[in-house]
Amino acid sequence: MKEIISDIDIISEKTEEQENCGIKISKEENTGKKRKLYIESYGCQMNFSDSEIVTSIMKKEGYDTTSDAKSADLIFLNTCSIREKAEQTVRKRLTDFNKQKSEKPELLVGVLGCMAERLKDKLLEEEKIVDIVVGPDAYRDLPKLVESADEGQKAVNVFLSREETYADISPIRLNSNGVSAFISIMRGCDNMCSFCVVPFTRGRERSRDPKSIVAEAKQLLEQGYREVTLLGQNVDSYKWSSDTTLKGKAQIEKSENADIVNFAQLLEMVAQVSPDLRVRFSTSHPKDITDEVLYTMKKYENICKYIHLPVQSGNSRILKLMNRTYDREWYIDRVDAIRRILGDECGISSDMIAGFCTETEEEHEETLSLMDYVKYDFSYMFFYSERPGTLAEKKYEDDIPLNIKKRRLSEIIAIQQAHSLERNKLDVGKVQKVLIEGVSKRSEKDLQGRNSANKVVVFPSQGFKKGQYVHVRIKDCTPATLIGEVDAN
Ligand code: SAH
Ligand code: SF4
Ligand code: F3S
Repeated sequence: MKEIISDIDIISEKTEEQENCGIKISKEENTGKKRKLYIESYGCQMNFSDSEIVTSIMKKEGYDTTSDAKSADLIFLNTCSIREKAEQTVRKRLTDFNKQKSEKPELLVGVLGCMAERLKDKLLEEEKIVDIVVGPDAYRDLPKLVESADEGQKAVNVFLSREETYADISPIRLNSNGVSAFISIMRGCDNMCSFCVVPFTRGRERSRDPKSIVAEAKQLLEQGYREVTLLGQNVDSYKWSSDTTLKGKAQIEKSENADIVNFAQLLEMVAQVSPDLRVRFSTSHPKDITDEVLYTMKKYENICKYIHLPVQSGNSRILKLMNRTYDREWYIDRVDAIRRILGDECGISSDMIAGFCTETEEEHEETLSLMDYVKYDFSYMFFYSERPGTLAEKKYEDDIPLNIKKRRLSEIIAIQQAHSLERNKLDVGKVQKVLIEGVSKRSEKDLQGRNSANKVVVFPSQGFKKGQYVHVRIKDCTPATLIGEVDAN
């Protein structure tokens, strides 16, 4: 999962095009009579996807949505805790809303998502402006909590569930291009990477009923969408059992006779919805991605040949301290399997953390040499930010000075820049199938879409429309974009 780029310690090649970056604001839907909800989202795609569920729940309660915070009666901030900066951004936003509340005292402000879960009712003390605090598994309770807040009571629900997947709620697509949509296939995370706050804010891993996932994909296709991205913190560990008495993944794995659906099987089920519906997925954990998944990708043309496979570090000792449960050799074996089964055209991207506790200069260089080996198409790169309550915070000293973290990060970024350009140059001269997502951000006369490997392709419009597939001959590139022309043949 990726989080947004409003956070300045995140540096990415493809931020603008590849990501829903920045703040996402709810679409306008105004019947003229109802109270208005404004929702702003931070963090990863799962959080954006959750905001669509929240909007669906609130609309059923009769709320209109607005993209103008100033006209709102209810403001929700769906928050992220992944790095300190992400939380600072939200706190700053809350001070922006303070003034608005002083002019309109009936305005309610709710904090949702990971920061709500991490700080719980402490958030009410720390940020006086907040009326409602709701964790990621408690969104069904929102209407009741808003009612309590209306009556003047501060309202909190941060209960984490072992079962909630919101499978029956049809998300209201926000800020969508009408072509690609996200489908959450699981929630939570059972890994315990020592740097990471997610297991504490999102709770235990649970997989959603595959029937409801396929139904959502079919519905999106009927509505004109042509691409779905299956979302989870660790999609390759997706496991669903029809035996509902089994609780949690551990029980499902142990059960012998249950009818189990794994990620490769789910991927196949979604790919079979229609050859016109592209399927993507994110995030893959190196310890869980199997050859079965890679062969399923190969079998279906409409499963995009792109894998986000975060490595975090290229050094085995650091990976152990990070509790990633794989080492450098294992990771290289997975990359080799991708190249063997899917070839050189499959896009691979990564996340990297510079300056994790005790990282030496030589160990940092192993991250650079791993990058040289893999040649990622792009990466999301961060310096380590210690998070309260994580294993690393408890066990290791955050001992790498900020200037060294930043210098190491800049070296990682420089190498990634070069690799992105090198990889993109390999596409020049090729004809690639592109799904058109809309008008190019740089010129009204151009369209933009993505190829199978998730690269942004820009080309002159020539009367083509968003949602169409076209074959584009790539003529030029930058590190972030491929530039071409629709191929007449
Ligand atoms: N589930 C995904 C990651 C989700 S968080 C996975 O396992 O790959 C997205 C990224 O944020 C992580 O991959 C990591 O690179 C980064 N990140 C997480 N915690 C961090 C921290 N404390 N400091 C810096 N970067 C962090
Ligand atoms: Fe965090 Fe690790 Fe889970 Fe990813 S797999 S969400 S990094 S604990
Ligand atoms: Fe996502 Fe941030 Fe939470 S990355 S899971 S919103 S901590």
